[in-house]
Amino acid sequence: QTPVTTAPAAKAPKLPNTETVTEVKHYTDRLFSFKCTRPASLRFRSGEFVMIGLMGDVNPKTGKQVPLLRAYSIASPSWDEELEFYSIKVQDGPLTSKLQHIKVGDEIFLKPKPVGTLVHDALIPGKRMWFFATGTGFAPFASLLREPQTYEDYDEIIITHTCRQADELIYGRNIIESLKEDELLNEVIGEGFWKKIKYYPTTTREESAKMGRITDLINSGEAYKDLGVEPLCPQNDRAMICGNLAFNLELKDMLEAAGLEEGANSKPAQYVVEKAFLD
Ligand code: A2P
Repeated sequence: QTPVTTAPAAKAPKLPNTETVTEVKHYTDRLFSFKCTRPASLRFRSGEFVMIGLMGDVNPKTGKQVPLLRAYSIASPSWDEELEFYSIKVQDGPLTSKLQHIKVGDEIFLKPKPVGTLVHDALIPGKRMWFFATGTGFAPFASLLREPQTYEDYDEIIITHTCRQADELIYGRNIIESLKEDELLNEVIGEGFWKKIKYYPTTTREESAKMGRITDLINSGEAYKDLGVEPLCPQNDRAMICGNLAFNLELKDMLEAAGLEEGANSKPAQYVVEKAFLD
């Protein structure tokens, strides 16, 4: 009789740097946010991103599983005990097709090496800060809006958020509304700090209180009129941009035309830009 040897069932390799999901919130069929535990060793500056992900499927050719990792802006502020992320759901996206199904208690992979240019250190002092976001590009600003330094460094903060549909603005609106009740900011910055913020949400493909791309609204002067501010100038204005590529490029050109220069960690200047994650 021939002895039968069975190969041990292939075990998923355990990922290093795993964190536990502590909260998941779904906003639309395309958008959700989640929180996870924060590694004790992780220090980051509000506005930075990290690589996060899940274990991918077994590759039928190699029989191996490889982690699927993508850059995600940390949406929570640097002082928070947990980490928050804001994500799109792409049905055939390699990572987000899986990530959208995570539940409290699941583990995700998180590489604790934060990087990024949307940080206060990359800008020289100014009076007014513009945060320009489209879609999930709101995430780094969700962090920076909860960061005390934002209010210490600037007299006024304008956050613009352009989305296709009105319900895609919910996450951002919730963050803005939560600022009024933010105990830390009220204590550190003083009650009423949130009055420094001007929130300017717009939609492009569905009726809402304000329609249009922020780029067009600025070029026509309508945004300045609505907000009651002077046009962008290199003396007073600083800006951070985070959205889809076409938006980033268009706005970058507009800022350059207004006389603002791009900054970096190594050479701070008047504006910085980063592409929002898309699966
Ligand atoms: P639009 O609907 O006119 O394309 P997306 O979901 O494709 O990333 O887009 C998010 C938002 O960014 C949409 O409201 C979209 O408007 C807007 N957008 C896309 N490209 C630009 C651009 N070049 N300048 C300004 N807004 C843009």
